[in-house]
Amino acid sequence: MTILDGRKVSNDIKNEIAEEVKKMKALGEKVPHLAAIIVGNDGASLTYVASKVKACERVGFESTMVRMSNTTSEIELLDKIEELNKNPEIDGFIIQLPLPKQIDTQKVLMAVDPDKDVDGFHPMNFGKMALDMSTFIPATPFGILELLDRYNVETKGKHTVVIGRSHIVGRPMSILMGRKGFPGNSTVTITHSHTKNITQITSQADIIISALGVPNFLKAEMVKDDVVIIDVGITRVVDETSPKGYVITGDVDFENVSKKASFITPVPGGVGPMTIAMLLKNTLLARELRH
Ligand code: GUN
Repeated sequence: MTILDGRKVSNDIKNEIAEEVKKMKALGEKVPHLAAIIVGNDGASLTYVASKVKACERVGFESTMVRMSNTTSEIELLDKIEELNKNPEIDGFIIQLPLPKQIDTQKVLMAVDPDKDVDGFHPMNFGKMALDMSTFIPATPFGILELLDRYNVETKGKHTVVIGRSHIVGRPMSILMGRKGFPGNSTVTITHSHTKNITQITSQADIIISALGVPNFLKAEMVKDDVVIIDVGITRVVDETSPKGYVITGDVDFENVSKKASFITPVPGGVGPMTIAMLLKNTLLARELRH
C-alpha cells in the first residue's frame, strides 16, 4: 500500500512555483496576485482562506483578502466582483463557498471574469474543461489529477467510481476521469443520494473518489482488494481531547480500508493541501494569460 502524500507533493509544487516567482522578480516583472472574497464568519471557510493567503506568501505571490459581512446583499457582492474584474493588479480571484442564503451562488460565479476565474467555476471554463480545451480546472479535481500523475497511478481502462455530484468536486471529477489522456480514459460511474445499493457499485471499483462529507462512510467491506482510494472528505468531528475541540475526518475508514488498498490518500495530508497548491498554479496561469 502506498500513501498518496499530498503534503509532500504540494510542497514540491509550491517550491516549483516559488522558483518561477523568483525568476519573475529577477526580471523585474509583476508577480501573480490572488484575491479571495469571503462572506460571513464560517469557521472552516475562514481557515481555508487563511491557508490560501499563507500559501501565497510562501511562494512570493501578492494576496488580498476581502472580508464581507454575513448580511451582505447579492448586489454588494456583485459590485465587489466587478471591482476585482476591473482591477489590473489582480490576476485571479475566488469567492469562498458556501455563500449565505440570500445570495444566488450561480449568479455570483457567472459574474467573475472567466480570465480571472482561478477556481474554474464559471460556466465558460467548466464547459471548456468538458470539451478538453485548455482552461482553469477546479483546484480540488486538478489536485487529484496531479497526485495520480505524480504517483503514476494507472487510470486507463479502470472503473472509477465517484461518490458525490457537487459542482466543486464530484461533477468535474467524473468528467475529467473519463477524458482522453492521462490521468483519464477511465470508465466512470457517478453515485449520489439517489443511488441504490452503493456497495454493489463501490465493490466493483478500481478507483474510488469520495466527496460525500460523511465521516467514515466507506468501509472495508465496500471495496475490493488493490483499490485506489481518493478521500476528499474534510468534516470537522467534535473531539474534546484534541486541542481545537474537533478533528478533521475523511469519508473513508482509513484504518481498515488502507489494508486492502494499493494507493490511498490520508485525511488530513492528502487532497486538502493539493487543492491549495493547484489554486496557486491556476493563479500563475492567470498571470501568464494576462501578461
Ligand atoms: N469551498 C469548498 N471548496 C472550495 C473551493 O475549492 N473554492 C471555493 N471558492 N470555495 C470552496
